[in-house]
Amino acid sequence: MNLTTELARPVSGYYLLGVIGNPIAHSKSPVMHNTALQEAGVQGAYVPLHVEPEHLQAAVMGMKAMNFRGFNVTIPHKVDILSYMDELDESARFIGAVNTVVIEQGRLIGYNTDGVGYVRSLKEEAVSTIEGKHVVVIGAGGAARGIVYALLLERPQSLTILNRTAEKAEELAKDFKVLGNVNGYSIDSAEQVLAQADILINTTSVGMHPHTDQTPVSIQHIPEGIVVSDLIYNPLETKLLTDSKHKNCITHGGLGMFVYQGAIAFEHWLHVQAPVEAMRRAVLASFTS
Ligand code: ATR
Repeated sequence: MNLTTELARPVSGYYLLGVIGNPIAHSKSPVMHNTALQEAGVQGAYVPLHVEPEHLQAAVMGMKAMNFRGFNVTIPHKVDILSYMDELDESARFIGAVNTVVIEQGRLIGYNTDGVGYVRSLKEEAVSTIEGKHVVVIGAGGAARGIVYALLLERPQSLTILNRTAEKAEELAKDFKVLGNVNGYSIDSAEQVLAQADILINTTSVGMHPHTDQTPVSIQHIPEGIVVSDLIYNPLETKLLTDSKHKNCITHGGLGMFVYQGAIAFEHWLHVQAPVEAMRRAVLASFTS
């Protein structure tokens, strides 16, 4: 992304930001972004906004009327919000969902920073490059969609999607064929596909609290020493990651994706570098408070 060093200009001298969703009370985004604003020395506030689906349009218009600089969008509004955007970034267009909105002189511009945030986190924390690698993604839902898009921009040698429901993996692969070498199969092909893998990424909820004893694939199929990444951040280390460590794998948890999707949103709103480490510390601290 092109970062200008000049701060975007607020209408009121104060940047208003927020997140709309339902449920929203337990979102970690407010603590993360308020810390970021403070750390970056920017006057403003980021608030959690509980919005019911039938009030989505009114909420969006309200934010425009109140001169919000932008906002995040979470479940269940990520797809429905598309119809209120004046402009869509390529990420949102390809993925078909918006998680970040910038309000630019009354115009609503929709972005999706989830996948790009994930890839930035993977590259900062686990791999030097994705180019030329064999990547395997488990799962074919909304989270996988954003990640497949962002991974293909990095030009892997191959990207294979494995899913419990094979048709969904095939469909997802078909949607992104134009961006690279991507195929979808049933999770039953895991043994064969994983034998070639350099990077394995779990996008399903298998292993998430409270089912922390589960893994999305049998550990015996994971080759020694590859990179294993899990989008789940509760727990911070899933059984998939713990078991992979025993096979000398480089592991990567889901917290970084959350932090970096926020960091990229912050940069879209304010045009200043996001204080990533302070944001990560704020989220981690909120887990224990
Ligand atoms: P998200 O937006 O988090 O990706 P989603 O769109 O509901 O959520 O997708 C969930 C993904 O996790 C799907 O790929 C789903 O597999 P199916 O397409 O077969 O439903 C996968 N998933 C969820 N629970 C699973 C389980 N117990 N075993 C295997 N895969 C599972």
